[in-house]
Amino acid sequence: MLEVKKSVGRYAASYVEDGMVVGLGTGSTAHWFIDEVGRRYQAGELKNILCVSTSEASSQQARELGLPLKNLEDVNAIDLLVDGADETTRQFAGIKGGGGALLHEKITAEYAHKIVWIIDESKLVDQLGKFPLPVEVVQFGSWKLFDRFQERGMNPSFRKDHKDSLFITDSGNYIIDLHLEQIPYPEKLAQEIKQMVGVVEHGLFLDYATTILVGKQDGTIMKIERSIVQA
Ligand code: A5P
Repeated sequence: MLEVKKSVGRYAASYVEDGMVVGLGTGSTAHWFIDEVGRRYQAGELKNILCVSTSEASSQQARELGLPLKNLEDVNAIDLLVDGADETTRQFAGIKGGGGALLHEKITAEYAHKIVWIIDESKLVDQLGKFPLPVEVVQFGSWKLFDRFQERGMNPSFRKDHKDSLFITDSGNYIIDLHLEQIPYPEKLAQEIKQMVGVVEHGLFLDYATTILVGKQDGTIMKIERSIVQA
């Protein structure tokens, strides 16, 4: 799987053109995209790009590669954002946030003209939900909110970090993962969760991506393009 993530991540870097404002996604697939953008930048192919990152982890990688980083506030818009995803349908409904960066990823996505998701084929699904849906919540009252998710039969669990402490996002919040198994109506669920007080954002990304690049075990890459691209 690592090889597939590497090849699709690197391939996505061929979408970057000099002069672009480039959004850097987060995760183990986006890592390879950033790595290749860094290589092309150092080779002088992308002298005039600016990068906007979706997480502290990706910023750190970009800094190590010497990439020119800007804050989201400092650019008008992002020409191209390349990011991973945890699950997606061919209809561009996806789950993100497995790496805990969903809030900054979604805010960044709001300002991107073109969004390319890079995934391996195991993440292309007919229906969302096998992957737990991450929900970013403010710390205050989060155990009460947890109970509410439980009462609604959403099988919540608090995200832990590698030290078994509660995971803290780049914005200082917690993440509650909902183990739903199936999400037949993503729009309805997105609305329901967004209305719950204390929820900052959820990991349902509906109609954000404009292209999905699917890396396959046989080394090929399948492209799924959205026919109607929203302005
Ligand atoms: C980060 O919060 C996520 O949205 C990632 O983009 C997503 O989890 C995919 O990560 P991998 O590429 O590591 O599987």
